Amino acid sequence: MKIIEAAGARIPAIGLGTYRLEGDTCVAMVSEGIRVGYRHIDTARMYGNERQVGEGLRASGVARDEIFVTTKVWTDDLAPADFLRSAEAAVQALDVGAVDLILIHWPNAAIPLQGTIDALNQAREKGLTRHIGVANFTAALMEEAASLTRHPLACNQVEYHSRLSQETVHAACERLGMAMIAYSPIGQGKDLLSDPVVTDMAERYGRTPAQIVLRWEVEQPMVGAIPRTSNPDRLAENLDVFGFELQDEDRRRLHEMSRSRRRLVDPSFAPQWDAR
Ligand SMILES: NC(=O)c1ccc[n+]([C@@H]2O[C@H](COP(=O)([O-])OP(=O)(O)OC[C@H]3O[C@@H](n4cnc5c(N)ncnc54)[C@H](OP(=O)(O)O)[C@@H]3O)[C@@H](O)[C@H]2O)c1
Repeated sequence: MKIIEAAGARIPAIGLGTYRLEGDTCVAMVSEGIRVGYRHIDTARMYGNERQVGEGLRASGVARDEIFVTTKVWTDDLAPADFLRSAEAAVQALDVGAVDLILIHWPNAAIPLQGTIDALNQAREKGLTRHIGVANFTAALMEEAASLTRHPLACNQVEYHSRLSQETVHAACERLGMAMIAYSPIGQGKDLLSDPVVTDMAERYGRTPAQIVLRWEVEQPMVGAIPRTSNPDRLAENLDVFGFELQDEDRRRLHEMSRSRRRLVDPSFAPQWDAR
């Protein structure tokens, strides 16, 4: 497993996404995921499943300090007092001690960033989290956040797959020593996985389309990915991307394809995205 080192954090490059995993399925997928080797779990206040994620983690029997747990504070809660209340509620719901990473889930232009970044730093200073970071930040917002923070930011979690380039954010991550964690990394399991460019490679490498796309992501410096599945058979498949390498030409083809920039997650409150 590749480990991304960023701002003192050691982040396993493949994590298990948990959006839309609920109830007993969530508990089972998290504990089974850990059993098959996942050491990084991604949740959020907004997913409403932190309690089940924590339960799955405890049920796995694997020591807490071997697992990297990320959660996120929702965009309505970015005023400092709200942020801290929400971070405390997250830690209480997970009930696994301090989390490893708390992220600002989305920027909110109506709330001054300085106050939110202060609260994020306080969450760390209060021992709620070991590391701090952001999600859905543009390169300009990343620069602003980095200039305001007392403790370094470990990551920016953004949509990234081979139909959405993130050259500008990736360059900012490298410049600022932050990980870029890819969400919707297999394009939400939709058209991307049946694209002939991907299926042709899958056939040639004897791998699945999801593995081709995930491999392309995690081969890149400072890049990780958090695919989600509710299908136990796919847990191991999505983790098993470290035993092969893409040839330069295939890597280039996927980079080329990412320039088509088909964004899947683009709510009305999204920031003005970087053009590349
Ligand atoms: N920060 C943010 O704003 C943000 C936004 C979106 C997502 N996220 C995080 O990123 C995680 C992943 O993103 P996502 O859930 O949007 O999309 P994704 O991981 O790209 O795709 C998930 C979909 O792909 C299917 N799938 C999984 N493995 C597969 C495989 N090997 N072959 C074929 N299909 C497969 C799943 O179906 P089955 O369940 O049937 O396998 C599911 O429908 C989320 O769960 C969440 O933790 C963060």
